[in-house]
Amino acid sequence: MPPSEAAFTSAVTGAQRRAPSPIWGDEREAVSAALHWAATYAVEGSDPKATMRSADALLADAGETITPQGLGAARALEIFDTILRPATRSTDDPMNLAYIPCAPTRAAVAFDTVVSAANIYGGLWEGGAGAIFAENQALRWIADLLGWPAEAAGVFVSGGTSGNLSALAVAREQARARRGGRPEEGWAVACASTAHSSNVTVAKVLDMTVVEVPIDDAGHLTGPALAAAITQFPNICAVVVSAGTTNAGLVDDIASVVDVAHAHDVWVHVDGAYGGAALAAPSVRHLFDGIEKADSFIVDPHKWLFAPYDCCALLYRDPHAAASIHAQHAAYLDSIDRGESNPSDLAAHLSRRVRGLPLWYSLATHGTDKYSEAIEAGLAASRKVADWIGASTHLELVLEPELSVVLFRRPGWSDADYRRWSRKLALEGTMLCVPTRHAEEMVLRLAFVNPDTDPDHVIAVLDQTMRRPPAEL
Ligand SMILES: Cc1ncc(COP(=O)(O)O)c(C=O)c1O
Repeated sequence: MPPSEAAFTSAVTGAQRRAPSPIWGDEREAVSAALHWAATYAVEGSDPKATMRSADALLADAGETITPQGLGAARALEIFDTILRPATRSTDDPMNLAYIPCAPTRAAVAFDTVVSAANIYGGLWEGGAGAIFAENQALRWIADLLGWPAEAAGVFVSGGTSGNLSALAVAREQARARRGGRPEEGWAVACASTAHSSNVTVAKVLDMTVVEVPIDDAGHLTGPALAAAITQFPNICAVVVSAGTTNAGLVDDIASVVDVAHAHDVWVHVDGAYGGAALAAPSVRHLFDGIEKADSFIVDPHKWLFAPYDCCALLYRDPHAAASIHAQHAAYLDSIDRGESNPSDLAAHLSRRVRGLPLWYSLATHGTDKYSEAIEAGLAASRKVADWIGASTHLELVLEPELSVVLFRRPGWSDADYRRWSRKLALEGTMLCVPTRHAEEMVLRLAFVNPDTDPDHVIAVLDQTMRRPPAEL
């Protein structure tokens, strides 16, 4: 049950309240209303029928909200609650199986509010020591899952794109230092076509070319294929390995890629933004063999580690190389005590919210065993649904899932049928499942990361809604 209005009002009118600001006045009403909304929403959850609306429709209902005199907290929150939030997708509904959903624990969601209220500067140890200490303990849990040594270190950044950017910047810098400058043709990063699109964007930002390495018959990047690419393009200084491709949930052959890459002094970055969470799942841990020798790694806790947006854990096996490019120096920063490791030294940023704390609080609350159990639940759900699809008479499994993504087809349906079916179920709030492409073919994709998803419910929906063409539904 959410706390009562009275409990909140008394919390924000307590004896230790700070004096009203001469400019902002007494903001207790604004605080009380916002925190009450947050507490209620955190336990109630979201409406799967909520969907986007056009900017014109939103303007018609909300009007101009930024005015010289302000609307007042009550009206601003009312607009958010009744107009704005309902025009956003429910990311944590158990039947949201599209893209990569975000299904945070209630503990993590609530603690995000605490992080905001505490307003801690997380860029430098000097400003955020206690909070950074806790973040580092959560990062250490991940480093242990990777099998990395005690000196491994990391930082929480906003998302996988940002994590990939910072890691590949370090890879490029290390190559420059080790190989005595930039090659005439510039640096290149190797990856498979199945690597996440953010890596191509990052390469552009870093002025690196992308060498696409062919995948094997099972869809994996492998060491022998990388070796051939390096022979042809000696300017490759880094390889991106997918530990869970977003589209199909496949884990590249990390061990063989690491061996080949290191034999050629090529940095190995493992993009586990989605699938890296499965390191904590004993049933699939063997798929990640070799990761203990990789150089950098990312995992997005907002994907499969049950934290809210936006959060990416970026780790380096040896953090020294990272500081050599990312540490910022300026006259006004000279007096900083740099005794401990500073998060700002490990990625392209300076100011930083301590965005790892919701994960830390949830981990500290529930324990790591529960995390393993929750991730195994997603894996088990995907296997159950995949097995049912494989045995059904009206659907076909496209690939055996390695992690928790299921690709399947409905023989006889056109691309337009897939889209119509997907949209109808989304508007009803029955299930969010959107089409994707696999080997040029449009297929359907389900991503299981929410431990509350009931696979039998998903099976029932596929059974009841896919036998007839969507026009007849
Ligand atoms: C494997 C992979 N890498 C990187 C990203 C980019 O992460 P973000 O959206 O947090 O920037 C994604 C996002 O889905 C992903 O699945």
